[in-house]
Amino acid sequence: MSQAPSVDAGIQQRLAALLAPILPDLAEVDARLRAELRNDDPFVNELAQHSFRMSGKRLRPALLLLTARAVGEINDDHRTLAAVVEMIHTATLVHDDVLDEAEVRRHVATVNARWSNQTSVLLGDYLFTHAFYLASTLETTFGCRTIGRATNIVCEGELRQTASSGDFSLSRDDYFAIVEAKTAELTACACLLGAHYAGADASVAEELQCYGRELGVAFQIADDLLDLEGDEQAAGKSLGTDLANRKMTLPLITLRDRLDDAERNRLMGLFEEPIVESQAALLEWLADSGALQEAREEAAGIAAAAVARLDVLADSPAKAALAGLGQFVVKRNA
Ligand code: IPE
Ligand code: IPE
Ligand code: MG
Ligand code: MG
Repeated sequence: MSQAPSVDAGIQQRLAALLAPILPDLAEVDARLRAELRNDDPFVNELAQHSFRMSGKRLRPALLLLTARAVGEINDDHRTLAAVVEMIHTATLVHDDVLDEAEVRRHVATVNARWSNQTSVLLGDYLFTHAFYLASTLETTFGCRTIGRATNIVCEGELRQTASSGDFSLSRDDYFAIVEAKTAELTACACLLGAHYAGADASVAEELQCYGRELGVAFQIADDLLDLEGDEQAAGKSLGTDLANRKMTLPLITLRDRLDDAERNRLMGLFEEPIVESQAALLEWLADSGALQEAREEAAGIAAAAVARLDVLADSPAKAALAGLGQFVVKRNA
């Protein structure tokens, strides 16, 4: 929430500068989230507020509000939808932390670590259902329908990822398909909603949806790099969980695909060992081979393609902020 203390002041300040055109609207969205999640039962209230206690980056509400501002005016539907997408995102995180056995999120203990997996499952459901209830209060059904479809695809992405856990032969195409679903679908949805509810032409809304999708893919590749080489204190969440849960991510796929059979088998051996024993060797191999750097460059290239989509917009502070987010998502430590 906006009044919460911020542990990583650096990144929050960078974001605040970037999001200047919409900061008052984002504060309203935060207030709406707080109000919506208030519950008379003290336990439910504590749980519902827990994940919002420390500030997340608010990337998805920011995308929704900035795309709205870039094509027209922000209205009350936008603020409601921005709260809805943040609620959906947070629900996916609460569930994802169970899947990944993560202990820290947004600088505080995860719901699964502080309470239990059972509590997380139910809290995630509580957040999902509240988000859909809130979306259904709009006069038109486009928002609820669009968010329903996107959330369904996000869940499909998480399911596909779970099914592919431990699969050393996961293809690049499958990696990208999973990322597009689990992460980029919601950022694409946020941009589409922002544009649509500001009265954008269908062609402009579609281009902004593509911007959101490419931005989301770049964002997730950067997130996967953070998971390998980031700092937990700065990130405010458990890292190293991808290797611990044997998730193939882009640097590992890039390295694997350039090795001969013998070396690939050696890499597979490390991938399958308990992570405490193999992590240092894997990270060194990924760094020395240039695979980490290549993944960084690939993310930057995809983010640049996203920013090029903004050519459909007239120049404005909101357009400049959307372009700035293209840089931000691939150059962040949290
Ligand atoms: C984390 O998203 C989950 C991913 C899709 C990688 P964020 O990094 O946007 O999380 P918060 O909202 O800032 O905590
Ligand atoms: C999760 O991806 C994306 C979701 C849709 C929840 P990650 O598992 O990489 O996200 P973090 O690293 O836990 O935030
Ligand atoms: Mg995770
Ligand atoms: Mg991650």
